[in-house]
Amino acid sequence: MKKRVFSGIQPSGHLHLGNYLGSIRNWVRDLDSHDNIFCVVDQHAITVDYDPAVLRSNVRELVGLYLACGLEPDKCCLFVQSHIPEHTELAWLLTCVTPMGWLERMTQFKDKVGAKRERAGTGLFTYPTLMAADILLYRTHEVPVGNDQKQHVELTRDIAERFNRKFGEVFIVPEPVIAAVGARIMGLDDPTAKMSKSAPGDHHSIGLLDDLKKIRKTIMRAVTDSEQSIVFDPARAGLFNLLSIYQALTGQEQAEIETHFAGKGYGDLKKQVAEVVIAEIEPIQARYRELTADPTYIDGVLADSVDQLRPIVDATMDEVRRAMGHR
Ligand code: AMP
Ligand code: TRP
Repeated sequence: MKKRVFSGIQPSGHLHLGNYLGSIRNWVRDLDSHDNIFCVVDQHAITVDYDPAVLRSNVRELVGLYLACGLEPDKCCLFVQSHIPEHTELAWLLTCVTPMGWLERMTQFKDKVGAKRERAGTGLFTYPTLMAADILLYRTHEVPVGNDQKQHVELTRDIAERFNRKFGEVFIVPEPVIAAVGARIMGLDDPTAKMSKSAPGDHHSIGLLDDLKKIRKTIMRAVTDSEQSIVFDPARAGLFNLLSIYQALTGQEQAEIETHFAGKGYGDLKKQVAEVVIAEIEPIQARYRELTADPTYIDGVLADSVDQLRPIVDATMDEVRRAMGHR
């Protein structure tokens, strides 16, 4: 029996190189060895202020990019969270077994609310219980995500264990799977901040659908330092980030890369980073254009996946409702 993988991305902006290297690329690599379910988590995307028309278009763009990046529909289920209402049903049930203190410890919540805690939506606070529901609903074994989501997957484990202790062994306790390289890509304009969909600044991130000229420019302008040597030194954040991108895309060892760039300058390094990034992104953009030319194609993929997932969802929810005394 293959292990089941579940992961998701929020349709809260345009997909960037961090999302690709930290998550999607790893999902594509493991397609054949796993039983795969990938979700566009549109209900997580409404936990902050948003525009419904923009959300609708972001969902379609993200599904198109999932496909264009190589998530072939005959090897995985691709679906939209809100198309399976049991995600929110299970989220409520899990909320009732999750202590407030566990949610208060979540660093993403603390980062996102900042000083505006009193005005933040309650959904932002309970966000991790919806994520736990996504994962536990499918009796997932592995959750491949970027580094920033590790804490949420660990919370999911705690919730599953607590539920199982109280109501019987219903859930599988999942493992987070974090890539060794590429799990935390930083902003090119500020290598101390994680590359994110929502950060301002024209040269912060590399969008998978960005104009190739703009991508090159963003990399050539990347903030580095005034030193000379090209070596993997986490203390030199800008350089380390560029080298990590290069390493993730070429698959070479750190020592090999340092030898390759020995005696060269930052200009040369940036040019070569731009080459490998563009070589990866250009075919994705071409496939994206092909796939989205027929809008009914995406609708068909999404509907087929929901049909395939239905029996799993029904079986889990039946057990959960019985265990909790609702049946
Ligand atoms: P999000 O953009 O928050 O919906 O994240 C979607 C996926 O991409 C999650 O698995 C994240 O952990 C991953 N991710 C987001 N930002 C980065 C980043 N800067 N570097 C690596 N992975 C990331
Ligand atoms: N919270 C994740 C993020 O911001 C997205 C997400 C929602 C997710 N549900 C999930 C990731 C389930 C993995 C599994 O990146």
